[in-house]
Amino acid sequence: MKRCKTVEALRRELGKLRAGGKTVGLVPTMGALHEGHLTLVREARAKCDVVVVSVFVNPLQFGPNEDFESYPRRVAQDAKLLEACGADLLFVPTTETFYNPDHQTMIVNPAVQGLYCGKYRPGHFSGALTVVAKLFFAAQPEFAFFGKKDWQQAWLIAKMVSDLNWPIRIVKVPTVRGKDGLALSSRNEYLDPKSRAGAPAIRAALVSLKKAQVSGERNVARLAEEAKKTISRAGGRVQYLEIVSQKSLLPLKSVSEPAVVLVAAFFGKTRLIDNIELSAR
Ligand code: PAF
Repeated sequence: MKRCKTVEALRRELGKLRAGGKTVGLVPTMGALHEGHLTLVREARAKCDVVVVSVFVNPLQFGPNEDFESYPRRVAQDAKLLEACGADLLFVPTTETFYNPDHQTMIVNPAVQGLYCGKYRPGHFSGALTVVAKLFFAAQPEFAFFGKKDWQQAWLIAKMVSDLNWPIRIVKVPTVRGKDGLALSSRNEYLDPKSRAGAPAIRAALVSLKKAQVSGERNVARLAEEAKKTISRAGGRVQYLEIVSQKSLLPLKSVSEPAVVLVAAFFGKTRLIDNIELSAR
C-alpha cells in the first residue's frame, strides 16, 4: 500500500494505478479505524479495481467546544489494518498541505444542514461536505463509500453529488454493530463503563419503535415518545429523536412513506448517534 501526503502525490500515484480504465473507489475516514470502516474498505475492494482510503481529522467539521484535539489519532495502526484489507493507497494529508492557510470556500446545503445533528453542531455538515468535495476532486473516484450510521451525512453527500452532477456513485453501507447492538464508532472509546452498559438502549429503542410501526402504529409523536423513554430509562439524555422522510429528510407526521428515525443521545459526556430505516405500511 502506497502512502501519499499531498494531493499532487495522490494524483500522481492514482494516475499510474488507474491506467487502462481501472475504476477507483474512495473511502473517506477520520482514522481510528474499527470494523465499521473496514467493512467500507472491503466493499470498495469488492467493487473497484483501485481502493483509496483517506485518513484526515478535518478541523472544519468540529465546533469550537468539540473534540478536535482529543479525537483519537493512530495512523500507524490504521495503515496496518488497511493493508490487511487490501487497500492500494492511503491518503494522509496534513491540515497545512490540504487547506490553504486562508481557506474560505464552503459547500452548504441551506435546506437540510441545520436540521437534526446540524442544529446541535452548527457548521458541522458544511465542514464535512467541503472536505468530502476536496477529497472527491483530489482522487476523482468512480465510487465513494459511506456508512449508514451517519445517515444524515450520507444523505447530504449523495444530494451534493446529484445536485452538482458529479460522476461519482455513492455507496451507502449498513452500520456495523457490537453484539449488544451498539453501533461501532470511534467515539465509543470515550464511554465510561456505566455509560457503555447503558448505550445499547439506543438500538433497543429503535428496534422497538420499528416493531410498533410494523404492528400498525403510524403516529410519529407516539412512536418517538416511547423510544425516548427507553433511552432515558437506561441513563441516556436524548438530544433529538426525529422520524423523517428518507427522500427529503424533512420531518414526517405519520409514517406514510419510507422514513428513517434519526437519534442523538448522550451517555455520560459522550454523544452517540444512530438510526433505523422504516418502510411505509
Ligand atoms: O464520517 C466521517 O468520518 C467524516 O465526516 C468524513 C466523511 C470522513 C469527512 O471528514
